[in-house]
Amino acid sequence: ANQSGSFAQKNNSADISTSTLSSILEKNKHYYKDGAVADYIPELSKVNPVSVALSVVDNNGKIISVGDSNQKFTMQSVSKIIALMLAVMENSEESVFEKMGYYGTDRPFNHFANLETTGKPLNPMMNAGAILTTSLISGQGEEAFVKILEMIRYITNNPSINYSQAVYQSEKETGHRNRGMFYLMKNTGAITGSEEQLDNYFRQCSIEITTEDLAKIGYFFANQCTRYDGDRRYENSALAKLILSQMLIAGMYEFSGEYARTVGLPSKSGVGGGIVVSVPHRIGIGVFSPALDSHGNSLAGYHMILDLAKTYELSIF
Ligand code: DON
Repeated sequence: ANQSGSFAQKNNSADISTSTLSSILEKNKHYYKDGAVADYIPELSKVNPVSVALSVVDNNGKIISVGDSNQKFTMQSVSKIIALMLAVMENSEESVFEKMGYYGTDRPFNHFANLETTGKPLNPMMNAGAILTTSLISGQGEEAFVKILEMIRYITNNPSINYSQAVYQSEKETGHRNRGMFYLMKNTGAITGSEEQLDNYFRQCSIEITTEDLAKIGYFFANQCTRYDGDRRYENSALAKLILSQMLIAGMYEFSGEYARTVGLPSKSGVGGGIVVSVPHRIGIGVFSPALDSHGNSLAGYHMILDLAKTYELSIF
């Protein structure tokens, strides 16, 4: 749709075909058996563990999907990249990153890293940084959440996207650790608002999407914040670079280094079982399989991405 000739030349890989995607899905879906569906949020454990889907938005903005690509699942931590986008658009990168780091991590996603020492979350991809990021989006009550939801509807061109009340309630009732981080950051003054801001984080995690929506989000950040259909309203290459770099260094949490070594693509996982992948200047990928590895990343999802990256030589390295 909207790519320049120079990057079209760089893309020497074969066209992405439905049959290749199908065989990648079939070859790797069994990995769900080695993982476990998240149950720390009770509502998440209700998902069918054999559901599996893979979608790509190719470099012409065309959507190719295989498997259960109509299956909705909650976005969870994938929402953190959208919150980061909005917080930076409203406040500037400098002011957001005065309050948190650009650091990678060897800690799980819900670790209190640095909150008791420097008071600054390691990065905006782990929960502490993400809770702070969402609190930096302006608005009363639900407004910050509504902005996140509207941006996701825009990027996916899918106005039917909404959040799951049941998952939201479940997150809110069991999110004691997130609440602890929220109050530690209130204690340091990093967060100034009320617990409604934490509710917005729980709501954004509960937004329900499909792998097609994920692939469109991946495409958006891969292509300087331009939409798969060519809409350039939010075009911003500096913002896209910031988000892709955070995805690369922390999007898969403590697995990010090994993931960069094996897959080599900016990606963001969520405990709902989705992973969004951006192939810079080229394509977007969305995968879903709800059984997770010990880091909270979709296991079959990882293997499908790994296979796809090898097949089409997608690694940035
Ligand atoms: O904060 C939480 O516990 C979740 N709602 C989101 C965490 C998440 O998705 C971590 N990712 N793999």
